[in-house]
Amino acid sequence: MNDDLLLTPFHLPCGQMLRNRLCKAAMTEGVADELNRATPRHATLYRRWAEGGAGLLITGNVQVDRRYLERAGNIVIEGEQTAPQRRSLEKMATAGKTGDTRIWVQLSHAGRQTPKLIANEPVGPSAVPLQLPGGRFGCPRALTADEIREVIARFAHAATVCHQTGFDGVQVHSAHGYLLSEFLSPKVNLREDEWGGPLENRARLLLECVRAVRSATSPEFAVGVKLNSADFQQGGFAFEDCLRVIEMLNQEGLDLLEVSGGTYEQPRLLQIDGLEPVFEEKVRESTRAREAYFFKYAVEARKVARMPLMVTGGFRSRSGMNEALSSGDVDVIGLGRPLCLDANFPQKILGGEIESAPDYERDLRLGPGIFGPNSSVGLLKVANGFAKIGWYYEQIYRLADGLATDPELGVWRALMAYERTEKAKAAALITT
Ligand SMILES: Cc1cc2nc3c(=O)[nH]c(=O)nc-3n(C[C@H](O)[C@H](O)[C@H](O)COP(=O)(O)O)c2cc1C
Repeated sequence: MNDDLLLTPFHLPCGQMLRNRLCKAAMTEGVADELNRATPRHATLYRRWAEGGAGLLITGNVQVDRRYLERAGNIVIEGEQTAPQRRSLEKMATAGKTGDTRIWVQLSHAGRQTPKLIANEPVGPSAVPLQLPGGRFGCPRALTADEIREVIARFAHAATVCHQTGFDGVQVHSAHGYLLSEFLSPKVNLREDEWGGPLENRARLLLECVRAVRSATSPEFAVGVKLNSADFQQGGFAFEDCLRVIEMLNQEGLDLLEVSGGTYEQPRLLQIDGLEPVFEEKVRESTRAREAYFFKYAVEARKVARMPLMVTGGFRSRSGMNEALSSGDVDVIGLGRPLCLDANFPQKILGGEIESAPDYERDLRLGPGIFGPNSSVGLLKVANGFAKIGWYYEQIYRLADGLATDPELGVWRALMAYERTEKAKAAALITT
């Protein structure tokens, strides 16, 4: 095994070179202002992450439609950009390029996973509501054919702005149950027109978005996609579908395909269980890189994929990352949560200073007592998922404020802070 694989530069089809094989995966920052513009906190955050050593940074999801956000603190790129909007994006791009790091913007449409705090009636392929307790999400309305065309144009426009403001590329978010991933799912997409039914139709929105983004930018600008290996739900987007979508994407000249999985209903992206049992097809377990819970899917994906591959989820150790790379099944290692706690984690791994990230997750669990003896287990599960995420959000805020992170932060405190901040930010949004 070549121990230096992590340090080996990687050339993307567009001609860009990544200085090593580590990528900071997309993580929503929540620090945009009341007009959903980038702020100095983004610049601080991305400078710290760029200095932290990863060859590539992918931003948290940036929305293409201000009516449908994943959370109030998202950056939005839509319509004519004002000079301050452009300047704030330029500053963020410059910060992310520190030390020859590459920075790509993750473009997304939140679809039916838009919280009620943002929109009572979100949109989706069909009027299929999320099956989650707590009333956080409204029942979506099905997009019209004209609106679907508009979504494609929005992705292309946002990519153009990213290109003009100095970012190195974009990643089209087609995973985790947001709009493009909803279209892929036969459980959520019940349409009977050219956008629903057989997989060729369900994948049309993703493919058209990728094509539109490609033709709106230049050949040197990187275009990637984040795709679910599966939704892990009975009747949902399955691994077999994923392999077929990869074959379709083979024609589109992608620079990087990131393999992930899960949705809000089944948050396997973070290895959290949803309310329903996890539905999983039989895929041969890989003996390599066991810590990376989607790696076995990447091994199979590699057999059909003609574009470079990245896999994200669970990578913590230098040996695990090197094993995955030396297998030849992936080209880039995606890292999320370890970078919320330590912006310099990649550098420490690359330099051999540490062998592995500390296991913070072990202690991130709300006790069942918190909700009283009559609380339903389902609610506790969901609350626990939100609490964990809230805990990571709080760490990102600290990084964005130039502070040290706080591994000792209590998970209950984090959940309360998360609830408070999300409400306050949503209430402060200025509608134009
Ligand atoms: C705080 C937080 C925010 C996230 N936001 C996004 C996001 O905006 N877009 C996305 O595709 N994935 C998002 N993810 C998922 C990560 O990109 C990644 O797939 C996941 O954390 C698994 O990798 P890890 O085990 O290295 O953390 C987020 C994860 C965390 C912890």
